[in-house]
Amino acid sequence: MNAETGTGLALELRGVSKRFGALAALSDIHLQVRPGERRAVLGSNGAGKTTLFNCITGDFPPSSGAIRFFGEDVTTFPAQERIRRGLRRTYQISLLFTGLSVLDNVYLACRGVSRGRFSFRRPRASDALMQTAEELVTTVHLQEVRNTLVSDLSYGQQRQLEIAMALSGAPRFILFDEPAAGLSPTERRELIAILTGLPGHVGYIIIEHDMDVALRVSERVTMMHNGRIFKEGKPAEIEDDPEVQALYLGGATHG
Ligand SMILES: Nc1ncnc2c1ncn2[C@@H]1O[C@H](COP(=O)(O)OP(=O)(O)O)[C@@H](O)[C@H]1O
Ligand SMILES: [Mg+2]
Repeated sequence: MNAETGTGLALELRGVSKRFGALAALSDIHLQVRPGERRAVLGSNGAGKTTLFNCITGDFPPSSGAIRFFGEDVTTFPAQERIRRGLRRTYQISLLFTGLSVLDNVYLACRGVSRGRFSFRRPRASDALMQTAEELVTTVHLQEVRNTLVSDLSYGQQRQLEIAMALSGAPRFILFDEPAAGLSPTERRELIAILTGLPGHVGYIIIEHDMDVALRVSERVTMMHNGRIFKEGKPAEIEDDPEVQALYLGGATHG
């Protein structure tokens, strides 16, 4: 375990609950994710997956419970403070500047997270940031369309661009909210290649509806249902679990 982090965990949730009025969107969530770990969260619509992300990022504070990020209690920290500590997310809805090029979008994301953040590169900041933006565009396999306007990209390419933007500012941990939703089979394969090719120290949680994608891009899978975690295990264990199959497939037909 890593001494620097205290607990040795990238992310730890202890008894996190989130209520919206009478609705318990999350109930007593306990979650532990190691640095560099790749985790999938599966569950039918309304299971509480996006709410889980909102609590982790600070977009919504939890109603109760505690969240630690690399050993530090961030439960009450605003979202910006968590970003400063290396946490990123993508959303189910695109948040891109469609009138700008691919490279400009990534450059702006890099500039946004570097502002006010300590950096060895400050003297030649803009050159270094442009260089980083170029590298990130390559990481998400968009180098051939780097000067194309975002409005001219395919839907799948736009999702790839969002991953590049989430990678800006050297994150330690990324939350991906259904990045494969709406992708063609070819685009899905591309996404899987990008995710599995990310640097080993970058951990992530991916919310994924498609069991097949989730099992390929993760080392561990957490199953959610009705705001609770009901099973966790390695992809092969989850795939073979009859209870998971019954509940997940049942939930998916109703969701
Ligand atoms: N801002 C909100 N206000 C009220 N209810 C919400 C809000 N966000 C989510 N919910 C409810 O919380 C539950 C979990 O939603 P969500 O986390 O979006 O599920 P998932 O991402 O797994 O589909 C749902 O019943 C949803 O309607
Ligand atoms: Mg969701």
